Amino acid sequence: MTGVGSYLPKKRFSNEDLTKFIETSDEWISKRSGIKFRHFVSENETTSDMAVNAGFNALKHSQVKKENVDLIIVATTTPDNTFPATATLVQKKLGINAVSFDIQAVCAGFVFALSIAKSMMLESHYSNCLVIGADSMSKILDWTDRSTSVLFGDGAGAVVLQKFDNPNGKLDDWGLLSSVIHSDGNFYDLLKTNGGVSSNQKTGFIEMSGKEVFKHAIDKLSLSLEEVLTISNKTISELDWLVPHQANQRIILAVAEKLKFNHEKIISTVKDHGNTSAASIPLALENAISSNKIKNGNLIGMQAIGGGLSWGASVIRIGKPLI
Ligand code: ACO
Repeated sequence: MTGVGSYLPKKRFSNEDLTKFIETSDEWISKRSGIKFRHFVSENETTSDMAVNAGFNALKHSQVKKENVDLIIVATTTPDNTFPATATLVQKKLGINAVSFDIQAVCAGFVFALSIAKSMMLESHYSNCLVIGADSMSKILDWTDRSTSVLFGDGAGAVVLQKFDNPNGKLDDWGLLSSVIHSDGNFYDLLKTNGGVSSNQKTGFIEMSGKEVFKHAIDKLSLSLEEVLTISNKTISELDWLVPHQANQRIILAVAEKLKFNHEKIISTVKDHGNTSAASIPLALENAISSNKIKNGNLIGMQAIGGGLSWGASVIRIGKPLI
């Protein structure tokens, strides 16, 4: 993972701003979720616009030339159109000639996309992949449901994955070591939109059984991180940083508690942008790298859960390999 980039829309709303149009308070939102601010796209701004900005920044950071990108995967729940894939629009706007497609695993989308990208890069000829998580969650918020609408925001984050030769196995402990991904459709109704193309021809708005999702999140995030660490032959104490899905500070801390992970090694940006779904991990990652917390060669754990339920985790040694 040799480059990261992110983008947040200009319009920023504090908890206090939300009190102007729904019955809520800074105290309730802060205490329940840790969220203070979220960004919303402007009227004419789309998911692909955000994805392009994040992707552009990630390419600049990695110094990979556009002409060398051969794969673009966009994880999104809020595509510009029902079809074609938003990734093809990103491809066009960035002027890249690459295989491009979307994947849909809601808030776990980024972890799913990393796993898919690695498989494709290992099993095929792809060597420079742009993985983007981008979501305009504000477009599917039901402002009459205050327990859900205050939790989400819009944004995009992107990373560049590069394939390197591995002379004498020197890079065996570098890059995306392992990923695990899981789904369980028995929990389909816990977190979903109340509309869709083939059901009622509407986009629908988010509905969530908050308390149930909360419990599943703590269990499944903890288990999947343990699982991926075992597969990677690593222990939790070897992680330099944990970059969790930025949905809720209480979930982040409860998982850390359960795994006995040092709170000071957790990257948390949920306060500043709320739950941005597929964008949340790369947004946090970019923030931690640009503020010099995460450094080249650090071992990072990532974990996410979303509607489906879908969840997963990855372990990665980040940055440009020191060959
Ligand atoms: N402002 C003020 N009061 C509110 C608000 C609000 N925005 N929303 C709900 N309330 C009230 C309720 O009406 C209720 O009042 P009552 O007791 O008089 O009936 C009271 O607050 C408590 O409501 P609960 O729903 O019981 O609140 P809870 O403590 O469970 O917190 C929350 C709700 C924050 C949604 C919690 O369940 C949670 O964090 N769930 C996980 C949600 C999440 O993070 N999901 C994302 C993870 S997966 C993904 O990223 C897609």
